[in-house]
This record gives sequence, structure tokens and C-alpha cells, in this order.
Amino acid sequence: MYKSVNTRVQRRGATLWTIATLLAIGLTSPVSAQTTAWGKLGRTATPAEIKAWDIDVRPDFAGLPAGSGAVSKGQDVWESRCESCHGTFGESNEVFTPIIGGTTAEDIKTGHVAALRNDSQPQRSTMMKVSQLSVLWDYINRAMPWNQPKSLSTDEVYAVVAYILNMAGVVPNDFVLSDKNIAATQGRLPNRNGTTLAHGMWDVAAKPDVQGSNCMTNCATSVTISSRLPDYARNAHGDIATQNRLIGSVRGADTLRPAAKTFVSPAERKPATAGPAAAAGAKPDPVKLANQHACMACHGVANKVVGPALQDVHKKYSGQPAADVARQLAARIKAGGTGTWGNIPMPPQGHVPDADIQAIAEWIANGKF
Ligand code: HEC
Ligand code: HEC
Repeated sequence: MYKSVNTRVQRRGATLWTIATLLAIGLTSPVSAQTTAWGKLGRTATPAEIKAWDIDVRPDFAGLPAGSGAVSKGQDVWESRCESCHGTFGESNEVFTPIIGGTTAEDIKTGHVAALRNDSQPQRSTMMKVSQLSVLWDYINRAMPWNQPKSLSTDEVYAVVAYILNMAGVVPNDFVLSDKNIAATQGRLPNRNGTTLAHGMWDVAAKPDVQGSNCMTNCATSVTISSRLPDYARNAHGDIATQNRLIGSVRGADTLRPAAKTFVSPAERKPATAGPAAAAGAKPDPVKLANQHACMACHGVANKVVGPALQDVHKKYSGQPAADVARQLAARIKAGGTGTWGNIPMPPQGHVPDADIQAIAEWIANGKF
């Protein structure tokens, strides 16, 4: 691995050299002078630094470190490190789409996931889609658990991948996944034959995977929307509109209000709390603040998301005077913390103005949601 990366780096170096040379030929001295000056900056990465960075595992398993892990150990890893977000059986749809579901013993035989074609599943799980076991291993190794990436040992990654495969019925309960048998296990992945290179993304001469033609006669003048978010799910993650990055023209719908009957462009939208009270400089609306500061990305009022439901927080402390509770919660929100509701930490919210934190804390303490 180290060797191949080295070649890659050298190749890239050669390209940069060519560009620099071409620039130097085409232009005059300033460029080459700067190139020389930059030459003094930085230093060559050490082998240890490259090794820490170079962790990719490829489809042919090049780069996979040696190791092994049993399904039973993987269950322990799953239950302590993954279950809180992905559900006991990998079925949760709360924090991310389900990891497990929608694959069958027949799919393991054919290498094609039938549910991808017959729409029998409400949505596509990871196991339905993934066609390379190396991707599952690599992704978990580099990115999971979401709140503590790269904290698993190599053997823990093997174990938890084995457990995920076991939950999907790909390997038996007593299975031990290792670098020796991972290639053979790839041969049982339900969607291993589900990918193709015969499309325009891969081959410019091939057909694009979306095909259509311009409508030239009897064209529809209006479009009927056939799928909508159900009403009960609309507010599951707070006001999506305030959680979008303010880049480009895309804004989410204001999910604190019922869906508009007709499309209202962001420019035409009225702010949610621009009532007479807000105009008169009354107390800020805590609901709006909680959305604005992205608290609702992790908290629901009535449902647990990454953090506890705000109603549950209210209930937990409802025996104490509201003013005390508000003060304590404000301190907790500012400092962040872990252990009160589980092992997922809440990041410190010190970037939120104190007055806003106080208003949200009072809202939770008073419990008038
Ligand atoms: C704090 C919540 C949290 C925890 C804990 C967590 N995950 Fe995740 N996981 C996520 C989120 C969020 C995503 C989607 C990330 C993205 O797409 O950027 C994700 C994505 C994934 C995916 C990719 C799914 C796909 O189809 O793209 C896998 C596999 C996965 N997690 C496995 C694990 C494993 C294994 C653990 C435990 C070692 C774990 N996760 C722990 C939140 C979590
Ligand atoms: C990245 C996800 C995340 C974000 C963003 C977040 N929280 Fe949390 N919050 C959590 C988690 C997880 C916990 C549980 C921590 C624990 O177990 O101690 C928590 C706990 C809490 C608690 C309970 C504290 C206690 O002592 O019982 C309150 C109140 C709270 N959050 C309010 C907020 C507010 C207000 C904001 C926005 C300013 C916010 N949170 C933003 C994840 C988040």
C-alpha cells in the first residue's frame, strides 16, 4: 500500500512539475520566483504520517489490515457503539436510513437484490445497496461511530462488520470474519452483482441511465405531485428551512407549518414569528431559536432523535422549581456533556448567545411545548 501511494504521489508530483514548467515557459519570472519560494515551505511527509492517512481499502481488499472478529464480539460492539443511532437490529430510521432490511436468502444466491426492482420496500437499506464488502469495512473504519470516528480497533471493525452481515442473514452466528475469508464472504453479499459499468457515468459512449425526450405536443401544463411527506412526520426534525446552509438558492420547507397548498418561493415566505408580539420587541420565540441554532437537528419535541425528546427532558426535572431547572439546563446546553441520557455526547453550544440559551432552557423547563 505504502509503495503504491508513493507512486501516486510521485505521479501527481510529475503533473505539477509539468504545469509549473509550462507556466514558466509561457509566462515570465514571477511564477518561477514564487515556485522557488514555495519550495522552502512544508516538508516531506514521514512514513508514519502517510501510514496514518493511507487507510483506504479497495474492492480487491488491497489495503485491508490483517485481523479478525467474531459475530458475538460484533454484537457487543454494535450494542455499545452503534445501536443508539442505528437501532437494535440496524432497522432504525431515526438518525439515518436503515442499515438492515429488504434482502433475502434468494438474493444471497443470485447476488441481485430483488426488492431494488419490485419496490416492495419503503426505502433502500445499506445491505440492499452495498455491492462491495470492502466499502462497508472501509466506511465503518474511517467514519463510524459518527460521533467518534476512527475509535474502533481493527478487530472491532471486523467484528461489527461480521455482526451486520449476520443480522442480514449473510453469515451464521458462529462466524469469524477475517482478512483470510473476507474475499469469500464478498461472494455472498446480496447485491454483489447489482452494479454495472454499462452506463453514461462510466462510459461516455454508453446510454445515460436517465432517458427522456422533450415533450413537443399535448404537453402537460401542470404537474401532479404523487408523493408527499406524511403530516405526522413533517416536524420530526424541526424547521428544515432554518437548518439549511445559506448557500445557493435551495431552502428547505418551513416544516413548523402545514405544507403549503401551492408553492411559495423563499423570497415570498413570511417569517414564522413575525406576529405583532415579535414586532413589538417581545421575548424571542424559543421554538424559533431552537430551530435557528440547529438544536432541532438532534432533538425532537416529542421524539428522541440523536438527543432526548425535549418533553422527556422536561419530565425528568419536573419535580424541581422551573427557574432552577432552567438555570441548570442553560449551563448544560452551553457546556455540552454526556452520560445523562446515554453515551452519545451533546457538543458544547457556547457559540449560541447566552440570552438565546436561557430562553430555550426556560421553554424546556416550563414544558409548554
Ligand atoms: C451518533 C450516531 C451514530 C452512531 C453512534 C453510529 N452511526 Fe453509523 N451513521 C450515522 C449517520 C448520521 C450516518 C450517515 C452519515 C452520512 O451519510 O454522512 C451513518 C452511516 C452509517 C453507515 C453507512 C450507511 C449507508 O448506507 O451509507 C454504516 C454502515 C454505519 N453508519 C455503521 C455504523 C456502525 C457499525 C456503528 C458503530 C460502530 C455506527 N454506525 C455508529 C450515525 C451514527
Ligand atoms: C449533535 C446533536 C446535538 C445538538 C446539535 C444539540 N444537542 Fe442537546 N443533546 C444531545 C445529546 C446526545 C444529549 C444527551 C447528553 C447526555 O446524555 O448527557 C443532549 C442533551 C440535551 C439536554 C438535556 C440536558 C440534561 O442535563 O438532561 C438539553 C436541555 C439539550 N440537549 C438542549 C439542547 C439545545 C438547546 C441545543 C441547541 C442550542 C442542543 N441541545 C443541541 C445532542 C445534541
